[in-house]
Parts: sequence; C-alpha cells; structure tokens
Amino acid sequence: MGRVGLGVAVGCAVVTCAIAAALVGRRARSWWRWARVVGVVGQFEEDCVTPVWKLRQVVDAMVVEMHAGLASDGGSKLKMLLTFVDTLPDGNEDGVYYALDLRGTICRVLKVQLGGSGSKIINHKVEQQRIPEELVSGTSEELFDFIALTLKEFIEREENGQVPGSKKELGFTFSFPIRQLSVSSGVLIKWTKGFTIEDVVGKDVSQCLEEAMSKNGLHMQVAALVNDPVGTLAVGHYDDADTVAAVIIGYGTNACYVERSDAIIKYQGLLTDSGFMIVNMEWGNFWSSHLPRTCYDIALDDESPNRNDQGYEKMISGMYLGEIVRRVLHRIAEVSDIFGDSAHHLSVPFILRTPLMAAMHEDDSPDLREVGRILEESLQTSGLSLKAKMIVVRVCDVVTRRAARLAAAGIIGILKKIGRDGSGGVASGRTKGKPRRTVVAIERGLYTNYSMFRVYMNEAITDILGQEIAQNVVLRVSEDGAGIGAALLAAAYSSKR
Ligand code: BGC
Repeated sequence: MGRVGLGVAVGCAVVTCAIAAALVGRRARSWWRWARVVGVVGQFEEDCVTPVWKLRQVVDAMVVEMHAGLASDGGSKLKMLLTFVDTLPDGNEDGVYYALDLRGTICRVLKVQLGGSGSKIINHKVEQQRIPEELVSGTSEELFDFIALTLKEFIEREENGQVPGSKKELGFTFSFPIRQLSVSSGVLIKWTKGFTIEDVVGKDVSQCLEEAMSKNGLHMQVAALVNDPVGTLAVGHYDDADTVAAVIIGYGTNACYVERSDAIIKYQGLLTDSGFMIVNMEWGNFWSSHLPRTCYDIALDDESPNRNDQGYEKMISGMYLGEIVRRVLHRIAEVSDIFGDSAHHLSVPFILRTPLMAAMHEDDSPDLREVGRILEESLQTSGLSLKAKMIVVRVCDVVTRRAARLAAAGIIGILKKIGRDGSGGVASGRTKGKPRRTVVAIERGLYTNYSMFRVYMNEAITDILGQEIAQNVVLRVSEDGAGIGAALLAAAYSSKR
C-alpha cells in the first residue's frame, strides 16, 4: 500500500471510529435520559404505594379523627359538622319542590314532583349552568345574583312564565363547608375547590340567597340547606333503608353518615327525637401521617389558595388528579426529551384536566392513539413515541389507584366507626353471626365516569374487609342525589313546620 492508500485507510478508520463513538455516545445519552425517566416514575410509584396494612392505618386514623371531631370543634381537621337533619324523608312527602345545587363550577336547578303516601318521586327535571370563571373569585352579590337568576329563569320556564307569588320552599345544596345554625341556615366556614369570594365567609348563605332571590323578584325561602353528601344520603335512604352513609368523589370530595346523637359529644347531649343526626364530615380536610404523600402533592399544596387544607381532597378528587399527573410529567420533561419541543406546555398548572386523564388511562388501542390525540390537543405534542405514551398511562394509573384506594379506606373508616365493618363489637356489622347489609350512596362523579377508579376502589374495599364482609357492603350510585335530596328534605322539613 502506498502512502496515499495508507493515509486514506487511516482517515476512513478515524471517521468510522468517530461516527461509532458519536452513535455510542448518543445511545448512552439516550439510555441515561431514559433511565432518569424510569427513575422519576419508579420513585413516584414507590412513594404512592398503598398496601393493605397502610390502608388499615388510614382506616384507623379516620376513626380516631372522627371521634376527635365529634368531641369538640377544632378537635380534629375533620370538622364533623352538625346538619340538624334528624329525620329522613320517608315517602310521605307530597307536592312540587324546587332545588338549587351549587357545586364547584356547575350550578344545577331541579324541579322534583313527589307523590306522597309512599309513592316516591314521580318526576324530576334538572338543568345545569356553568358558573362563569370570573365569579369564582368575584363578590358575594355577583355569585348569588347569578344563581338566583338561573333559578328564576328555570322556574319561569317550568311555570309558563309565572313565578311563585307567595313564599315557596326551596332546597339549597351548598357544597362547601358550612356551620349550620339550623336545618335551613348556616354560615360559610371557608371556601374550597378554588373559590375565593372572601365576602361570603362568615355569612349565612341561605340569607344571601334569599336576598338575591327577592331582589330579582323570586319569593322563595330556603327550607333545607344541605351539603351535597347530605342530599345524596337523603335520596339514598329514601330508595334503600339500609343506606347509612354517602360519599361524593367529584370535583371535590366529602362524606356524611348517620350518627347516634349521644355520640356527638360536642352537641352537648341535646338528644334528637329520632336519636340520630346526619354528620357532615368534611372529609376532604382529613389528614394523617399515614397518607402516602409525595413531593408533587407537597408542591401542589404549597401553590394552592388553601395551603395546608383539604389534604385528602387534594389526593382524591377530580379537581386535582389531572394536576398531579401534570406535575409528574413536567418533572419527566425536565430530565428527558420524551415530550419533545412541547414540554413547556407542561408547566401550565391545571392544563391536564381529570376527564382527559381518565380518557388516556382507559385507552386500550395497541398504539395508544387516544393518548397521542389528547396530548397533541392539550400540549401540542407531535409524534410521541409509544414508550412515552406508555409512561403517561403508567403515571395516570399510579395517581388513580392511590386515590381510589385511599377513598375506599375512608369509607371503611366510617363503617368501622359505626360498627358496620364486621370487626365485631356492640354495633357490629355482624348480628347474631350474620353480616348486615350496609349501603353507601355514592354520587356519580369519578366512581361512574372513570371505570379504573371504580375497579380500584371496589378492589380495595375487598382487600381491607375481606371477601365475606365486603359482599355485604353495597356502593349504590345516586344520580343527581345531592339536588333531589335537598328538594326531598325541603319537603320533609316544611311539612314539619
Ligand atoms: C367541600 C365539601 C363538598 C365536597 C364535594 C369539598 O371541597 O368542602 O363541602 O361536599 O367538596 O362537593
């Protein structure tokens, strides 16, 4: 080989080595980046685990906090609020009742026709209206005017242009923590679910609504002011007398149950004729060191308008699940390039809403087409690899599984408190060796709209209680229960006056 030939050969070898080195380098870098993604997801998964022993700790912590909240106001983060609902509708209620159901971002108006003499609900009609975003942080007057007008327009349509001349009774579902003064009145303790209308805090919300209605020419009075699970429990019990508790897992989360009045120590021994009262737990504010909390939960809480509050809600409810996923994906985008150029969209809070998360989680197409489509629409990603889409599904799974299992532990906590968990004791779920049927009413929300949530929740109930006891616990879905229940309670309480 001549000199030239040798030179060319050496040159080629150098170039080949350089290309090989570059390829190996790129591979190594991509391997490292992928290892970091796996590391972030693995750590998150580990921090979110909810083995049965941990769930049982959550059950017991719930029971302890329930006792503390019943003993004194401020005794626990669980407020255990009195509702003054000590009679439940029994089917003898008669007539047409309207209800207004103010949830998170949605307001529903309902007309319920009751037949009396045990004939149950003859008919009901529901319409809903989105609360304009600016009202969530506006003034009391703007909010109550808006909902009063929504109700008035609905009633006018239903009554062919006529609005009631003399005072009619209304059921008002107000889905925020209220300290009730009576069954028909109560003051707002604080806002949740992103609402920040400061001038309502400390005010009687029934009075605010009545003033707004009267200002707008609608003469109605609130006969029952109820929190949403209380309405759900009223309907649940009306349909099935074994119903002892109700749970809402929607945009927010909460539960209530039927408690013996002598167990409500802070009620200072005032016994009710029925011997019971429904207690609104405000369980979204439950907290225990046994809850598996991650750095993402901490950051979410720190940046929320209600820091250190609603800790359980922030792990369970629809307002937050998509946001937790977004935070984990954002971290993944920081350590890798799997989301490409659009990663910066992941820094926008609440961009990934829970219904989208549910749709991605439940995508069963082999190439995860729906995941790709949703991420493309909400984050403007394009051409995501299958591996990246699988990671997204994995994160959704971890977040939902933890939420559903923790919610299940909360339910078993209530059942344990009232002796319906089959663990023995005076008021146990076992009577003379036979387990008692126990029904928990549950509003549609995540339980019906997110099938993986439902699957994980039912699975956890069986894990905690065991097959034999779990088969006697029925989660019964109630549609529009919160609003219909308010109308039913308005009927029950106005007939008592
Ligand atoms: C509120 C509760 C309400 C629940 C479900 C929570 O944020 O504090 O009062 O029942 O959401 O709507």
